[in-house]
Amino acid sequence: MSTETSATGAFGALTAERGICFGGDYNPEQWDPSVWREDVELMRQAGVNLVTVGVFSWARIEPAPGVRDFAWLDEVLGLLHEAGIAVDLATPTASPPPWLGIRHPETLPVDRDGVRLVPGSRNQFTPASRIYREHALAITRDIAERYAAHPAVRMWHIGNEFGQLDFGDEAAREFRRWLMEQYGSIDALNTAWGTAFWSQHYADFDEILPPRRAPYLINPTQALDFRRFISDLLRDCYRELRDAVREAGATQPVTTNFMGFFAHVDYWSWADDLDLIADDQYPDPADPRAAVGIALVQDLMRSLGGGRPWMLMEQATSALMWREHNLPKTPQRARRDSLQAVARGADGVAYFQWRASSAGAERFHAAMLPHAGADTDLFRGVCRQGQDLRLLRPVVGATVDAEAAIVFDWSSWWASEEPGRPTERLDMIEQITRWYDQLWRRGIAVDLVEPGADLDGYRLVLAPQLYITEPDAAAALERAVERGAHLVVGPFSGVADRNAHVLVGRSPVLLRDVMGVSGEEWCALPDENVELVGDWWAPADGAAEASILGERLRTDGADVLLTYADGDLAGLPAVARNTRGDGVAWHVGAVVSDAVLSKILGEAAAASGVRGAVPELETLPDLLEAVQRGPVLFLLNHGVEEQRIPVRPGLVDLLTSETADRVVTVPPGDVRALIERADS
Ligand code: GAL
Repeated sequence: MSTETSATGAFGALTAERGICFGGDYNPEQWDPSVWREDVELMRQAGVNLVTVGVFSWARIEPAPGVRDFAWLDEVLGLLHEAGIAVDLATPTASPPPWLGIRHPETLPVDRDGVRLVPGSRNQFTPASRIYREHALAITRDIAERYAAHPAVRMWHIGNEFGQLDFGDEAAREFRRWLMEQYGSIDALNTAWGTAFWSQHYADFDEILPPRRAPYLINPTQALDFRRFISDLLRDCYRELRDAVREAGATQPVTTNFMGFFAHVDYWSWADDLDLIADDQYPDPADPRAAVGIALVQDLMRSLGGGRPWMLMEQATSALMWREHNLPKTPQRARRDSLQAVARGADGVAYFQWRASSAGAERFHAAMLPHAGADTDLFRGVCRQGQDLRLLRPVVGATVDAEAAIVFDWSSWWASEEPGRPTERLDMIEQITRWYDQLWRRGIAVDLVEPGADLDGYRLVLAPQLYITEPDAAAALERAVERGAHLVVGPFSGVADRNAHVLVGRSPVLLRDVMGVSGEEWCALPDENVELVGDWWAPADGAAEASILGERLRTDGADVLLTYADGDLAGLPAVARNTRGDGVAWHVGAVVSDAVLSKILGEAAAASGVRGAVPELETLPDLLEAVQRGPVLFLLNHGVEEQRIPVRPGLVDLLTSETADRVVTVPPGDVRALIERADS
């Protein structure tokens, strides 16, 4: 959807002044002060204009309880400021010093099996511990009071990758408190959790525990509520620290780093608490289609921020040390990854980390400045990125406008993957990515939206797996169709209410009317794919098949496009299309093959009038990505073959200054950023 936001807010002010932010985590405490000057000099050389300082500095700032050592940090901020490099100052709260856990074991998290985790790594805290929270608040206040008005500080970074779990007694206490607030009475909780099943009735909140290791399956609503609780608890922790920073007088934008489709935090419920959305992205270079999955994450980040520019807070220049294979990136790949984020709405691109550590657990993790120093291809690649990002100034503040939306929410994800379901093989993110891939191949811009969101600006709405469907979400989807949109609903949608209770009636209970089909049973499909047949299908379309999960469906008025050729569901509808009001609802009743998805989504997109970023091509060449961001058309070639793409006349590439006249060549691995020539 189109948003009016451009370079607004404090992040907008920073990028309007400095252009796209470029830099990384800077951990000077790992190095002798004699190295800091060289760091700053090389940062300038690379075009770095923003670094995140202090993410893991707690033990350095507070070596013993209550002691403060800020002298080194004063010096570092001073050096950066003199060099004109802005600072994203972190609260060091993600990694408490060992003394905290040793003195106060209750600050340490306990896992599902009752094992208390120990210091010696990082993240050794539970957000449920008041003692941890008080210590975290105290150091945050002192840092914020000291540096709120420091001229180098242009952003605040709370904690790091919030996502800590705890199943111990501290968490149990807070979980009960949260449940009391949600339900008000134990009777209401018993109803919501369906505790009549398996004799789980609770007489009092005191009897309730986190979903620790149990003999068999846990109550699914208990598991779902615990996930919601953890997400809320972590958000409280974030808010408390953010408020402390604000109370100290800080006016800079405040953020923390998300982790894409991260399973333990519902980012929709956090988004409004961040002044800018920031995200850490580590696509796997071994995956030839990694660019698709990461594009989806980038669209999620832009959508979480309501369309406003976001920031790629962490990525790797080359190899990681935490995957099994850790394939490195080439400098060209690293450059393309950064430019992809900018194409999809980022106004900041940063890395973990500036200088490669020589000690510690991440000593083999690539950085902007490798162990081998500045005379390296890697560092030259980093410098080139700095130059490229300066050239992309015309996109600062610009939006990516989408007319297609994918409905996604964490509760549906959580609830639909609780064990004890029709099939253990259905993976929601994998399915959403497959659907998204079909739009990506067409260069169609997509927003992600929460169920129940206003869909007015969208002509094409996809709900690949909307497991929990509440009345407001169903009504919004129905309204979108009535007013002319194409809605495509995938299997295992409309199944449950917010308590994860299966809705009673023919499915999808609340969407039956609009879909024009209804089902009576979800059916796992056998290992061999099941063939689908129908007049709508032409042999040239490829393999029409279903796998993983289908449904025993009947049409209640929709046109049946494909039926199962054989097996238990032989002759029953698998894909149907229903005209309703001014729009069309497509029901995809099974996990269908890529060829089927392609035909459904291609036809729905064409019929809804949604166009790709290269309108001359209905489908782009394989692994060629096209995104229009504000005035700039980005073409990114993730493949190994050169591509020639038709474009309108009068464009010039911001990255090379070459003009593109009706056709532009994109070499393998390269990127074009085309804008109208000033004189055209
Ligand atoms: C992130 C983390 C960084 C660093 C990085 C390594 O999850 O925030 O501190 O550990 O991973 O890839």
